[in-house]
Formats: sequence, C-alpha cells, structure tokens
Amino acid sequence: MPAMAWRKLLLVPVIGLLTACSDSVSQVAADAEVVDASVQLRARSGEMVYQHVCMACHATGVNEAPKFGDRTDWAELIEEGYGILVYESIKGEGMMPPRGGDISVTDMEMANAVAYMANAAGADWVAPGSEEEVQSMLKQAEIELSLHHGED
Ligand code: HEC
Repeated sequence: MPAMAWRKLLLVPVIGLLTACSDSVSQVAADAEVVDASVQLRARSGEMVYQHVCMACHATGVNEAPKFGDRTDWAELIEEGYGILVYESIKGEGMMPPRGGDISVTDMEMANAVAYMANAAGADWVAPGSEEEVQSMLKQAEIELSLHHGED
C-alpha cells in the first residue's frame, strides 16, 4: 500500500477527534466512512486469501489443520467464536503459523478468510465491515482469552 494511503488512514481518527465538536462533524464522519469502506474494498476476499495462503494446509488437513468444509473438524472451533478464531489464527496456534505464515495478510483479511472457512463448515459469520470493527473484535477476544487463561 502506498505511504500516502496509510497516512490518510491514520489521519482519519485524529481528524475525527479534533472536529468532534464542530459543525463539520457529519462531513468528517461521512469521509471516515468512505475511507473505512475502502479498507474492506481493498482487503482481499476470504476466498482469495484462502486460495493463496490457507488452502496449502487446510484443504487436506496438514498437521491436523481443520479441513475446509469439514463440519466435524470445525464444530468445536465455531463454538469458540469468530473473534477468538481470528485472534488465534493471527497469533498462531500449535502447528498453525501466525497469519498462516504470510505476514502480508492483514487483520481484516484474516477475518475474511476465517469467516470464509468457518462458513464453509456451517457457520454464518459476517466479516467485519471496517477496520475499527476488526480491531474491537480482536480486543474483545484478547479480553475473553485472558479471563479464561489457565482454565484449559
Ligand atoms: C502451514 C500450514 C497452515 C497454513 C498455511 C494455515 N494454517 Fe490454519 N491451522 C494449521 C494447523 C496445523 C492448525 C491446527 C492448530 C492446532 O489446533 O494446534 C490450524 C488451525 C487453524 C484455525 C483454528 C485455530 C484454533 O483456534 O484452534 C484457524 C481459524 C485457522 N487455522 C485459520 C487459518 C487461516 C485463515 C489461514 C490462512 C490465512 C491458515 N489457517 C493457514 C495449519 C495451517
């Protein structure tokens, strides 16, 4: 992603805060929504990420990776919840490397890929529509995991 685009993304929340009390709030909010939507537009789809990165292990179940479309493999994972699975697949879990071993996959794209795989095995998760949503999902998962730390 070009440097300008990143700067624009980082600026939006700051501008949002600075102008939160001014009359131009709705315009800024509208601009922020456009930028936010474009984050999801630029993100690779779950199917695309799956095919490029995740399929290598999840198609056949390398090292007991939960197999694509296998409801038995995925049932317990789906129970754990969307946020937890996205969090764990970003961090890495057992033989699952962080981000499937490809650090170019963004948090949003991981969320897309996890929904794509889980939905193929019976979940009906809707991928987050904005970067803010992804980050609050991950924050929530982190809190849940730290609360349950040591229980298993
Ligand atoms: C190098 C092989 C490999 C690749 C590539 C890979 N995975 Fe995995 N994945 C695994 C293995 C092995 C497990 C089982 C880990 C365990 O439970 O110990 C796993 C488990 C998972 C889980 C369940 C995590 C949990 O909480 O137990 C999710 C979700 C997941 N992978 C998502 C992905 C996504 C999304 C991608 C692509 C971006 C991906 N994986 C790419 C090997 C891989």
